[in-house]
Amino acid sequence: MGILVTGGAGYIGSHTIVELLNSGYEVIVVDNFSNSSPESLRRVSEITGQRIMVYNMSILERDGLEKVFNENNIHAVIHFAGLKAVGESVAIPLQYYQNNITGTLNLLETMQKYNVKRLVFSSSATVYGFPESVPISEDFPLSVTNPYGRTKLMIEEILGDLFIADNEWSISILRYFNPIGAHSSGRIGEDPKGIPNNLVPFITRVAVGELKELTIFGGDYPTKDGTGVRDYIHVVDLALGHLKALEKTVSTPGVNTYNLGTGKGYSVLEMVEAFENTCGIKIPYTIAQRRPGDVAVCYADPIKAKQELGWGADKGIEEMCRDSWEWQAKNPNGYEVNIKNIESPHLSTSGDFLIKVNSI
Ligand code: NAD
Ligand code: UD1
Repeated sequence: MGILVTGGAGYIGSHTIVELLNSGYEVIVVDNFSNSSPESLRRVSEITGQRIMVYNMSILERDGLEKVFNENNIHAVIHFAGLKAVGESVAIPLQYYQNNITGTLNLLETMQKYNVKRLVFSSSATVYGFPESVPISEDFPLSVTNPYGRTKLMIEEILGDLFIADNEWSISILRYFNPIGAHSSGRIGEDPKGIPNNLVPFITRVAVGELKELTIFGGDYPTKDGTGVRDYIHVVDLALGHLKALEKTVSTPGVNTYNLGTGKGYSVLEMVEAFENTCGIKIPYTIAQRRPGDVAVCYADPIKAKQELGWGADKGIEEMCRDSWEWQAKNPNGYEVNIKNIESPHLSTSGDFLIKVNSI
């Protein structure tokens, strides 16, 4: 069964493709590498020993998307492609709306034209805004505080409208909590450009000696130790959730929304301690002002995904910290390699992809 994965070279996409290939799916990727490297896909191909068809292309290119649907037998789409940095979205909102909203509309229109009506969409726990209580279940009120979050909420609403208009569509909306960790091989992982915004990539860069110390944003939250609490989930557990959601779209029409989280909350200080205990490296830190827009506590009620998808997160916090560290330690510069040297017997590339590789 052919699955189109948009944004497949990115952090969550690359881990999901490993699981798709291991489960016997054929994978076609569209990615413009605006926040990723083709090296991640080469490594996915190496880990799985399987081929991936890759189009170096933006989902903003309508003609290009038509070419992809013409050239491949696509049964369903997993849609990861999008810009995701909250602060950047405040600074350049139009680019976020253009990329995330227009890109998604292009994708949906092309899917409709080619009668492919099964979709798994990457949403975020950010759509819960400042939740009134925890754990957060899917029926909580939705609100957003920044353009990035607004793109997610708008797309969720667009998908709802689409199903009302045409109930042949089968859509899973997945609201991720805080994905961390990496594949156990240490070959693929999260590779943020520049100084990381998120906690765990920041910690691993401190551990590897690239950054001096962690700044903890806020020590006066109404939590057990004053620092913010989040629901960290191993990226491989998250990836497996996509396979379950995909199976659901194949078996049942409708729009279904699921939290993908563990249901457990850890504070920033607990994360620092877990990392230090698992990896044996001291993480120096200072406590500073709260980060604007941060909520005190955020963790999922994951019961709906358990009941309807038969999915739950298995991996604990130690495994998450260990795998994040393994990836960082083995790849201190992330995917930074001489891309001209990339050759793989397994990586099947379109002409466009080769042009991109040669021009980097
Ligand atoms: P990522 O940046 O690593 O991956 C996104 C991929 O999409 C990148 O490879 C990027 O090059 C590609 N892309 C962006 N715009 C594109 C376009 N116009 N055309 C083609 N490709 C394009 O991010 P990720 O962490 O893997 O996140 C995947 C999805 O999950 C995103 O939609 C993100 O908003 C969502 N999400 C992520 C998190 C998280 O913490 N990582 C949390 C909630 C939701
Ligand atoms: C952030 C985004 C959210 C996005 C999520 C996953 C904001 C306001 N929210 O959420 O929209 O869906 O990432 O990509 O950016 N922390 C520190 N020091 C740091 C970094 C983080 O103390 O250097 C703290 C934060 O205050 C928070 C916790 O660590 O309490 C987790 O932060 P982070 O990894 O950025 O995730 P979120 O805040 O949940």
